[in-house]
Amino acid sequence: MIQKELSTKHVLGIKYLTPQDIQLIFETAESFKEVINRPIKKVPSLRDVTVANLFFENSTRTRISFELAEKRLSADTVNFSASSSSVKKGETLLDTVNNILSMKVDMVVIRHPAPGAPAFLANHIDANIINAGDGTHEHPTQALLDAFSMREKLGDLRGKKIVIVGDILHSRVALSNIFCLQKLGAKVKVCGPPTLIPKYIKELNVDVEYDIRKALEWCDVANILRIQLERQDIKYFPSIREYTQYYGVNKEMLDSLNSNVIIMHPGPINRGVEITSDVADSDQSIILQQVENGVAIRMAVLYLLAAKR
Ligand code: CP
Repeated sequence: MIQKELSTKHVLGIKYLTPQDIQLIFETAESFKEVINRPIKKVPSLRDVTVANLFFENSTRTRISFELAEKRLSADTVNFSASSSSVKKGETLLDTVNNILSMKVDMVVIRHPAPGAPAFLANHIDANIINAGDGTHEHPTQALLDAFSMREKLGDLRGKKIVIVGDILHSRVALSNIFCLQKLGAKVKVCGPPTLIPKYIKELNVDVEYDIRKALEWCDVANILRIQLERQDIKYFPSIREYTQYYGVNKEMLDSLNSNVIIMHPGPINRGVEITSDVADSDQSIILQQVENGVAIRMAVLYLLAAKR
């Protein structure tokens, strides 16, 4: 039987979605991708729904694509940025959100540096909550758009081999990707310096490869991550130059492989550190397709959650 609605009223993490939820989001996103490529890109699906986008951390892609997704669905939107708000005067997260909700907001998209902040809100307020990235925990819509983009290139992801390269320890994208890809039947490895691989990785049934060349030889897709210096309070490797020397992906390395590995990156890219420009801009890279798919995926998530109200 085809599932018609999500099993949950919030999207707090991929951990809490079923494989059927993920497939439903993909099918819905496929329809919305067709909509956003029409001359008239707007549908009335979320008319009379108000969405608050609460960003307590910087963002370019996630913030803009949520806002575009809401506008394409005809929702009313309000945007909140912690740096220009009364949070600076000491207001708590719960007070901030309750004040916004008293203005009749139906859904909240939240990015916050504290892991668990979206789940905390879901337990305290009556609105659908979408996690747009919570600290080092999860970034579910990023993983959905990543898997959707891989699926467009490779078809069914069962048995496909994906390596996630870089700062796994501090990456919510890595954790959400691992959960999502495993739920879709893909094989996942991580690759990076030992100090940036979390100790719990084996418990997630994920293999570790410390040699970038071997990792690239093995995989169909390499999802390359940025070093999150803003979350590192100690040094995890001697220097950026050495990181690049041992784990940076360059064109010479790619050209020496036997197959055409698909290159992905969630952004923002640090060109010349984890990836060279000639790789990021190559025919093997689908980085901008990921960004394009972000709008359709976020439209699907908003639409399906609104149906749960
Ligand atoms: N991939 C991602 O979350 O990018 P932003 O931080 O720019 O939203």
